[in-house]
Amino acid sequence: MPDTSHPLHVERNTQALLQDMLTELNQLSDGGIGSGHDRLAEQFRQLRDELTRFRLRYKFALDAVTTKIDILREEFEEAHEHSPIEHVRTRLKSPQSLVAKMVKLDLEPTMEAVQASIHDIAGVRIVCPFASDVYWISDMLTSQPDITVLEVEDYIRAPKPNGYRSLHLIITVPVYLSDRTEHIPVELQIRTIAMDFWASVEHQIHYKYEGAVPDGLRDELRDAADTAASLDVTMGRLRGEITEFQH
Ligand code: GTP
Ligand code: MG
Repeated sequence: MPDTSHPLHVERNTQALLQDMLTELNQLSDGGIGSGHDRLAEQFRQLRDELTRFRLRYKFALDAVTTKIDILREEFEEAHEHSPIEHVRTRLKSPQSLVAKMVKLDLEPTMEAVQASIHDIAGVRIVCPFASDVYWISDMLTSQPDITVLEVEDYIRAPKPNGYRSLHLIITVPVYLSDRTEHIPVELQIRTIAMDFWASVEHQIHYKYEGAVPDGLRDELRDAADTAASLDVTMGRLRGEITEFQH
């Protein structure tokens, strides 16, 4: 039973209202509002434009990180027989899930609060063939002088209880705007193909059961995570064999 007397409950309702407001924002500010509400329409427009500008900085940050990764990949491929990167995916949090996270974290509905507390608005997932590539990419990126590391969570050395493995970093990259430079946080998830395969299946199961995964399935997922981990070890050793053979 939710405790409706708790102040947070009221706060959550307010935030839910804000979320609805954001959803309607586009229709309203695109001229769907009657005369006599001009000031309100103008406020909506300003809020929408502010949010758009705010998200744009994170898009620029994604572009900056993507370029860095492309350079590392191309340079590596030039010198080696294999690529350290299988694929890269980027995502920008939608305004809706941004508001949902503000509610979860009980944040003030201001851009400042969001920028300071939510670090996964811009997300990059780098999938590598081998576990050693994961650390190579991480070392190469974090040693660049314009990148600052805010947080490292190594779920490869210390997997989550469900078996999840991945290297998570929160970094900031400078984004050079016309009148100032902003250091924008970006969440990096770096993992092997095997870890990524496991995570995507686990995510779908987690989603299907709305978090309440049955015990038997949970055990199977754990076993599958161990199998994926031992595959990574074997593949790493086999690559060692190939490298020795070639050089
Ligand atoms: P969030 O509020 O979900 O961002 O949690 P957090 O800030 O504590 O970060 P955490 O490092 O736990 O997870 C960040 C992201 O990693 C998630 O949004 C997922 O994309 C991914 N992730 C973390 N744990 C799991 C997991 O158990 N399974 C899968 N499939 N993905 C996970
Ligand atoms: Mg997170």
